[in-house]
Amino acid sequence: MSSKAPITTGYRTSARITAVGSYLPKRVLSNDDLEKIVDTNDEWIVQRTGIRERRIAADDEYTSDLCFHAVRDLIERYPEKSLEDVDYILVATATPDTFFPQTAARVQAEFGIKAAGAADVAAACAGFVSALQLAGGLIASGLHRKILVIGAETLSRITDYTDRTTCILFGDGAGAVLVEAGAADSKPSWLHSFARTDGEDGHHLYRSSLSPSIGEHSLQQSGKIVQNGRAVFRWAISRVPESILEMLNEAGTAPEDVDWFVPHNPNMRILDVVSEKTGIPLDKTITTLEHTGNTSAASIPLALSEGVRSGRIREGQLLLLYGFGGGLSQSGLLIRWMA
Ligand code: COA
Repeated sequence: MSSKAPITTGYRTSARITAVGSYLPKRVLSNDDLEKIVDTNDEWIVQRTGIRERRIAADDEYTSDLCFHAVRDLIERYPEKSLEDVDYILVATATPDTFFPQTAARVQAEFGIKAAGAADVAAACAGFVSALQLAGGLIASGLHRKILVIGAETLSRITDYTDRTTCILFGDGAGAVLVEAGAADSKPSWLHSFARTDGEDGHHLYRSSLSPSIGEHSLQQSGKIVQNGRAVFRWAISRVPESILEMLNEAGTAPEDVDWFVPHNPNMRILDVVSEKTGIPLDKTITTLEHTGNTSAASIPLALSEGVRSGRIREGQLLLLYGFGGGLSQSGLLIRWMA
């Protein structure tokens, strides 16, 4: 495939990300700290995951609080932006403070946004990109023009700190973006959208709530994250790279055209294999994994925020945002940064 091939758009929309913000809780949980909780060690964790530390919400800090901080960071970084005319709020999270009111409604109340819809998006680690896809659709349809999209998690509250194979992975954090309709004659920023789900494998990664089973698979009722690490690993290193290549092919573009790959951050070994199989080099991949662990729906907006803050992400560049995990689901979005 030629790297000069034109990029087709999956749907025509002038939607674009116009501002970003993020927040990490102050408390740090290092690998050394985990050694005191479970039978593990820094060397094993770093070698198997690339993670050195994660942030953990304070005892009185919930997912909505993390959202508020991320939005305040966005406002500080983009003082010219106003939230007054935001007309929809989408919060991607697997750890809402309450199932209802939804977290997005808490955000609406906190910032006194007068006339906005509010919905949470539950798609685990694919949640943030799924929410962006929905925001793009709402703008493309003409129904809405300015949407606040947040990915936020307090995974520490649903992590089983007696299970050494899962508790080493997860952390807390939040990132927020504004998605706005551009001028009618503006170049498209949203270029291609892609989604896949393998629900038949959903029992490999879950948190139980009301139902005791998924199909014939009965679920542990701990209320904590339960994972078959090896099965999820196998799925991620086979389905994710093949789907990314399928998506780029659909879009009429090539891996070498991607300026920045901003994937969900599950663990470095998975990202190494994805890089190897897709041909998108690691030095074009933005992650925060080493210092945040896996923050599910928050990992992509955290990495975006970091990429913009450090000056790596610049106007006109081609970004591939790619979420994957619980479901087992994948959501991808190819965007021209603030084109
Ligand atoms: N510290 C030290 N040893 C550990 C350990 C830990 N935290 N966790 C597991 N082990 C041990 C196991 O008990 C096992 O020992 P044994 O061989 O004596 O039985 C050995 O390490 C290998 O266990 P295994 O479960 O096969 O490890 P693994 O190589 O598959 O690594 C994960 C475990 C969780 C790191 C890995 O499966 C993984 O990354 N899976 C994907 C998880 C993920 O990213 N999920 C989110 C997707 S969005």
